[in-house]
Parts: sequence; C-alpha cells; structure tokens
Amino acid sequence: MGVTISPSILNCDIANLASEIKKITNADYAHVDVMDNHFVPNLSWGLPVVEAVIRQNILPVDAHLMIEDADRWAPAYAEVGCDSVTFHAEAAVAPIRLAREIHRQGAKVGMALRPATDITPYIELLPEIDMLLVMTVEPGFGGQSFLESMLPKIRRTRDAISAANLQVTVQVDGGISRDTIALAAEAGADVFVAGSAVFKAEDAYNEVEALRQLAKAHC
Ligand code: DX5
Ligand code: ZN
Repeated sequence: MGVTISPSILNCDIANLASEIKKITNADYAHVDVMDNHFVPNLSWGLPVVEAVIRQNILPVDAHLMIEDADRWAPAYAEVGCDSVTFHAEAAVAPIRLAREIHRQGAKVGMALRPATDITPYIELLPEIDMLLVMTVEPGFGGQSFLESMLPKIRRTRDAISAANLQVTVQVDGGISRDTIALAAEAGADVFVAGSAVFKAEDAYNEVEALRQLAKAHC
C-alpha cells in the first residue's frame, strides 16, 4: 500500500501561508480544514482562502469540510480546483448525490466520520467515494490527543474496502505524530493528516519525511 502524507495547515503561521506550505514540498497534499462554527465549535476559513492556496500552486489541496449543509457547499470546493473534497457523513443529506456531484466537478471524493459515527451504515457507499476519513479526534481543533479507541474502526473500514475489492484510501486525522502513526498504519490507514506534529517541528520537511518512513514501515 502506498503512503500519502497530507499536513494540515490549520495551525501553521497563517499570515505567511505561502512560505509555510513551501516548507513541506515533500508532502503529497496540503490538508485545508474548513470550519463553520456550527458543525464544529470553531471557525477557520472558507472558499476564498482555499482558492488562494490553490492559486499558489505549491501542493494539491485536500479540503476537509467541517461544515453543515455539505450538500449545498461542498461542490464549489471541487469547482475551484481542490484535488480532493471531503465532506462529513453527518452533514450530508444525500451523500451519494453529493459524491457524484463532486466527481462531476472533477475532484476526488472523501467522506469523513466523527469518532462516534459507525462505519457500518456507510459500507454500501464505499464504491461512490475515493477516501474514507476516520477522525481520530473530535473535529474542531488541532493539537488534541490521538484516540486509540478508533483503531478498530480503522481496521473494520480497511477490511470492508478489501472485501469489496475497492481502491478506497483510508485517511486518519487528529493526533497523528511519530508516536501514533505506526498504530494507525498497522490498523489499515494509508493517508495521514498531521498538523501540529509537522508545523511545530523544528524542521517541517524533515518531519514529513520521518512520518512517511514510519508509516511505510508499518503499512
Ligand atoms: C481537526 C482537523 C485536523 C487538525 C489536525 O478537526 O480536522 O486536520 O488540524 O491537527 P493535529 O494533527 O494537531 O491533531
Ligand atoms: Zn482535518
């Protein structure tokens, strides 16, 4: 299984977005967290900032939408050029229609599950998406501790994908660091979001490489 590293820019030096993203050119994506202060108790940024990151043309954008009414707002993130658009299953009324609309706009589709949301009701939807995001913290903030209790859900998700012979990737987001990435990889994750671990490191580039090597060794 290939390893994908997608650093979250949520807690980087946001007044210097371009130079921050230039530190991590060895990453596969820039993970951009959109929060609306309704779906999660925090507000980050919206479409104009995401578009600005895309225009910088440094890394492809992996947008993580922690917003209500995903059916209405998510397609625009595909339309402006995000490589991948992830909506929360809990915030979508018609996730299949939404996934098809995002695909029609030319982006890959991710679907995210909060820690308390079970994968079982969504197994039949896996053929409609490219990535399933298992949140490993309660969404809303960077810098929280990895929830080891999510490891069985990562494993169940990976097993369901293998059983259906699909190419869907499994992303983990929240508390990923040198201490936790191996656990997530062993459980079946192959796309790793890391925010504070990367941007609080002395050398972000080096941290991306270290996380990649650790994940590769345990995938
Ligand atoms: C949290 C966000 C994450 C966050 C991760 O709701 O979705 O992407 O930035 O930050 P760390 O890696 O610090 O947990
Ligand atoms: Zn995220």
